[in-house]
Amino acid sequence: MIWKGVNAMPITFDQQHHVFKLDTSVSTYAFMVYQENYLVHLYYGAKLPDTDLSYLMYRGKFDSLSPYNPKVEDLFFSPDIQPFEYPTNGAGDFRISALSVRGGSGDAVTDIRYVSHKIYDGKPSLPGLPATFAQEGQAQTLEVEAVDAVTGVKATLLYTVFEDYPVITRSVRLENGGKAPVVLERAYSSCVELPTMDLDMVHLWGKWWNENNTERRALQHGITSIQSKRGMTGSNHNPFVAFARPSTTEESGEVWGMNFIYSGNFAIDTEVDTRGTTRVLMGINPTDFRWRLEPGESFQTPEAVLVYSDKGLGAMSRTFHHFYLDHLCRSEWAKKKRPLLINSWEAAFFDFDDDKLVAFAQEAKKLGIEMLVMDDGWFGTRNDDLRGLGDWYVNEKKLKGGLSHLIERVNALGLKFGIWYEPEMVNPDSDLYRAHPDWAIRAKGREHSISRYQCVLDMTRKDVRDNIFQQMYEVLSQNKIDYIKWDCNRNITEAASATLPPERQGEFFHRYVLGVYDLMDRITTAFPHILLENCSSGGCRFDAGMLYYAPQIWTSDCTDPIERLTIQFGASLCYPVAAMGAHVSANSRASVKTRGVVAMSGTFGYELDPRTELTDEEREVVLQQVADYHKYYDLIHFGDLYRLTAPTENPYLADWQFVSPDKNEALFCRVIMRRPPNLYQSVCLAGLDPDKIYVDEETGKAYSGALLMHGGIDLSAYDYANNYDGDSFMKHFVVR
Ligand code: GLA
Repeated sequence: MIWKGVNAMPITFDQQHHVFKLDTSVSTYAFMVYQENYLVHLYYGAKLPDTDLSYLMYRGKFDSLSPYNPKVEDLFFSPDIQPFEYPTNGAGDFRISALSVRGGSGDAVTDIRYVSHKIYDGKPSLPGLPATFAQEGQAQTLEVEAVDAVTGVKATLLYTVFEDYPVITRSVRLENGGKAPVVLERAYSSCVELPTMDLDMVHLWGKWWNENNTERRALQHGITSIQSKRGMTGSNHNPFVAFARPSTTEESGEVWGMNFIYSGNFAIDTEVDTRGTTRVLMGINPTDFRWRLEPGESFQTPEAVLVYSDKGLGAMSRTFHHFYLDHLCRSEWAKKKRPLLINSWEAAFFDFDDDKLVAFAQEAKKLGIEMLVMDDGWFGTRNDDLRGLGDWYVNEKKLKGGLSHLIERVNALGLKFGIWYEPEMVNPDSDLYRAHPDWAIRAKGREHSISRYQCVLDMTRKDVRDNIFQQMYEVLSQNKIDYIKWDCNRNITEAASATLPPERQGEFFHRYVLGVYDLMDRITTAFPHILLENCSSGGCRFDAGMLYYAPQIWTSDCTDPIERLTIQFGASLCYPVAAMGAHVSANSRASVKTRGVVAMSGTFGYELDPRTELTDEEREVVLQQVADYHKYYDLIHFGDLYRLTAPTENPYLADWQFVSPDKNEALFCRVIMRRPPNLYQSVCLAGLDPDKIYVDEETGKAYSGALLMHGGIDLSAYDYANNYDGDSFMKHFVVR
């Protein structure tokens, strides 16, 4: 055994009580093998020393209409009542089911029972899917095998516990061990059974330009579903949800956070039953999903991540942040300082040539910017958004002398060079479409809808992916490219693939996502040193699946810092600051200073014409910002984030703070959205060491951590009366 964790063994099976226990540093997750080999859920919450937890399977009395299994010698057991580890359809459990398999006889009754299990060190990767990973000694995995006796379908439930984090990951491998083909109609990745409905659900909803609004509401009886049917994650709902006790706050109380590592049609379904208990399923959206398994074939569900916190939403978020940087973002850039960039989009849109880009680079260099990103418009006949997508060769009318020549000129100024792609898309007005009209997604006999003048390429097809890969490879291998922005500006309609037989068309959406992952995998494997930024009209595909390949994601096309406060606060519930693409643009009423303060709590960069869109005074502000960016990089990107005053809860102010891992440094940030009415302005800091002495770098005044956290910092001296319209400031504290 090479396990190195603080717990002797994080995963145990108690032979006497048939109980599996999965222990993290602060939580316990437990389930048992019951009579007739039912897999019954017992507990998920604060860490417990006990092993006999079986009484927790009884949640309310037997109901007179509840079906029962006569072989079970227990008057209180019914599939209608008990919490299940992976609930199935049609065999007595009338709640939402995680698994429904239509077998050779045509019915969809599914009933899996425990067969065996194994516990081992490490964590397996999931074929074709993004997933969390662990080095030797960092994780332990449990595989529980359960079989449906009639169809022969075998479900292997995978659980991994990580050494350093209160995290459990889950997924399911389904295999047709029978003799007839079967169809998976529901195949979720995880089920969590909470014994109460006295919980608030927290989730992120939004739309283009206004992503990640945080909503918190009390659970009610019935089914609530958060989902996407767009083929991509979308910005309407993020595949993240948290359940908090009503009294839970940012820094106290219990919360169960759940996130799905997937970039396609997802569903997070919550059912509160009439006993007042709560079942939460997370997985591929069963709408438009039918997956056929021939005998011997198998299907791997994507991975779900479960985080338990007994210290509020803040601690849950910090767990997700560090966990994702350590165990999900596989890019070499995950924990490396990223170059400070300027992007051409809002500066020029499609109206640029090589000289203009070089002029941007020249000005940007004077400001200390380290990389020029050439956004949309460099390829094919792309002079507007009407045409050109799919033709990934350089437009030499725009870039005279070719791409290499442009890059040489930019590099000669000391800047790196980045480029924009939208690999999954094609305009009908393009050479690619004219040559291969059948490569655009379209259901047989139907026209395809158009969105932003473009269609989606059929990424389920290897020949399509090969073509796009080859086109990208040529540009990327022949030019010195340091960064790619991978965009995706429409969703999927009239979904079908010309190459799938009718009985497999229900596989289209998931196969699309697998195709995108395959292409991303090929690009990032061929060019491991390129920094990949994901984007989908801003944050319309902001998910953990993308983070596996791209350590940063453009958070929103909206770059106004006041709007961005809500967007970035929301995203930070689950995703690290180091993942959030954020730029200072000219597109805002707020000061350049405030645009910088907000963008700095993201990847940071600029997206404006550096020649014409900055006054001399603003240039000075930018120079200071660039210096601050370097000074605070590690603190902001790899420290702990504390959300002190949320812009959704306070109409006047937003406050947040970073603390370094050794607690020797803290950075407080405040944005004033409106003039606050109270004359006394004081904020208690969080996360400091109470015994350390912190010096306010600006005033030289020293405070104990305890004083800053309980007495607070007095911010009343600031001139709120005259600077209330989007002004901001930061305060840096360092241990003496
Ligand atoms: C999307 C992105 C923008 C920009 C444009 C280019 O809208 O979100 O940042 O790249 O596409 O067309």
